Amino acid sequence: MKTISDINEMIKIRNKIKDSVGFVPTMGALHEGHISLIKKAKKENKIVIVSIFVNPTQFNDRNDLKKYPRPISEDKKILKNENVDYLFLPDFKDIYPDSYRYKIIETDFSKKLCGKFREGHFDGVLTIVMKLLNITKPDKAYFGEKDFQQYILIKNMCKAFFISTQIIPCPIIREKDGLALSSRNLLLSKKDREKAPLIYKTIKQNITNGEVKKILSENGFKVEYVETLKGRRFIAAWLGNVRLIDNIVIKRREKCLKR
Ligand code: PAJ
Repeated sequence: MKTISDINEMIKIRNKIKDSVGFVPTMGALHEGHISLIKKAKKENKIVIVSIFVNPTQFNDRNDLKKYPRPISEDKKILKNENVDYLFLPDFKDIYPDSYRYKIIETDFSKKLCGKFREGHFDGVLTIVMKLLNITKPDKAYFGEKDFQQYILIKNMCKAFFISTQIIPCPIIREKDGLALSSRNLLLSKKDREKAPLIYKTIKQNITNGEVKKILSENGFKVEYVETLKGRRFIAAWLGNVRLIDNIVIKRREKCLKR
């Protein structure tokens, strides 16, 4: 695996590749969720590029950015083990030469669900993903359904800007106890880690969104939202100072989940 930090070098290398290129953008602290995207990319492309960049412009909370885990040498081992071809590891000053004066803004769906509570979050996500796609010019780019709203916004951004990269959704990978894998799970206390699977257990039940909120609140979660949209039930909830998100597909017969 070759690690590249220089943007011009990454562009040069990319332009020389004639085979199919799969791209997996990440913020590191890699886990089985990320690895499932990488494995799919390896299966469907000759060359795989993974990026690690903890993108400050998508953090609306300074403290969240500061405490975001950055285990870079463990991450490199994981990527080598998965036979990734290139790790793209850019610097903030290089990737934002304009100091974030230019940005991609979506004005509708990005204001819902997580966007309602994380001002500017999706502007930061869309802007960095646009930059990364312009640098790596992949045939296919892989995104997890764990961040379903992010996946939809990126897919529609590519359509809106005539970007030819295919945006491929990948299913949510969970722990045995149902908790969706997330880099932020590392920040949970032992007690909260034991409690966290209650999110998935509760949103799966055929009860209303109001009832989900009530059960979780009674168990010490601070629920940000529980909403049904686009055939899915979405949730964001805090445990201590860790924010967790999840979503599930609603089967047609499950009437209660729609409320
Ligand atoms: P990050 O949170 O590191 O996630 C990178 C990719 O892994 C995203 O597409 C995310 O949806 C996927 N992923 C995370 N946990 C998953 C799980 N349990 N199952 C399946 N996929 C999972 O999402 C980001 O980084 C950033 O916003 C990024 C797109 C890199 C832009 O900065």
